[in-house]
Amino acid sequence: MSGTSLSRINALPMTLPVSQEQLIEDARMQRSADACIALIVAGSPAGADSPFRPLAELELPGGLPHWLNHMREATPALYQHSLRVALVASAFGALNQLDWRKRQALAMAGLFHDLGHLKVEALATVAEGELDTTGLYQLRSHPVVSHLILSNVEGVPPEVARAVREHHERLDGSGYPAGLVESRISVSGQLLALAETVVGIIDKGLAAQLPVKLRLQRGKYHLRTLTWVTTLFAEHGPRPDVDKFEPAAIAARLRDIEEWMLSLAALQLPGDGTAEAGEGWLAVQVAALRRGLISIGIDPGAPEAVLDVVREDQALCTEISVVIAEALVQIKFMIREAVARIARDAGGLAAVRGLAEWERLEALRRQVVEAMPGAVSNVEHELGD
Ligand SMILES: [Fe+2]
Ligand SMILES: [Fe+2]
Repeated sequence: MSGTSLSRINALPMTLPVSQEQLIEDARMQRSADACIALIVAGSPAGADSPFRPLAELELPGGLPHWLNHMREATPALYQHSLRVALVASAFGALNQLDWRKRQALAMAGLFHDLGHLKVEALATVAEGELDTTGLYQLRSHPVVSHLILSNVEGVPPEVARAVREHHERLDGSGYPAGLVESRISVSGQLLALAETVVGIIDKGLAAQLPVKLRLQRGKYHLRTLTWVTTLFAEHGPRPDVDKFEPAAIAARLRDIEEWMLSLAALQLPGDGTAEAGEGWLAVQVAALRRGLISIGIDPGAPEAVLDVVREDQALCTEISVVIAEALVQIKFMIREAVARIARDAGGLAAVRGLAEWERLEALRRQVVEAMPGAVSNVEHELGD
């Protein structure tokens, strides 16, 4: 990328800097406006470890206060989202007893993790010819762009820029932009990723499903923190209110889920290299979902056993309905991610349509969406952004 392009990406917005007082007032507003954010803040270690403290004492270097004010004025929803992620990430930092410097770094990373969204269009323009300019690539480049801006601001600790770049990576390698696995993602990056996901679930009004959603994705996030936030919401969070499946429908859905999981596990993606069918990326994802389901006591390979239990217990019937709805969301997510991986190899989404793998995945996706209860299929369930 040329120097001109870089300076265009890093050009300071024409606005006053946000003040420290304003920042804290805005952060407090997020807490009082949302019971779920308040629950996390109250549940994390109190007193001097309050998640507000790293924000209150944060010194933002270079033009970062200008960037923040620009975000506040131009994209208030993104600004509020960033404050919420910073607060939740700070709470996770306190929970994990990170040292003070790391907790401040985490708060800063939370504030600026999605900065790239403000500039992604600029990237598509400057890198024309090198990048596929579909929405997919634009969306997926935002952690890289955020990293690029931050690493060019003097005084930003490298670990802040790194955590920002890693905020859509997942421990099992299913994230982006690099598909890193656990040992290669910094702890700050792992905590930021979970904070972003938790805030994403809350923002979509799905806090009641948060425990189930996270339990089914245990292998993707920082386990200790995931367990903490799952327990917090299971005990004190809102109760789920979903369309309940009847027992017979539960067994039928479980049979469908089993069939779809087997079909997906057998599909080999172009990027799977020399892996045998059944050992590729999709097979790994399916195995993780199966483990998650079994750990909650639901084996989709044995729907009759589940049926025996739900006939006796209506409360359990509701709970299993929530799990099934979430399993469908996870399968839909896997299909979309598989299409994205094929697209990456084929050189763009346009080149994928018509490929045999795409046809198969698209047919499966349609079946899965059709099986989703109305309340679930109407919401865009992608975790994170
Ligand atoms: Fe975000
Ligand atoms: Fe993001």
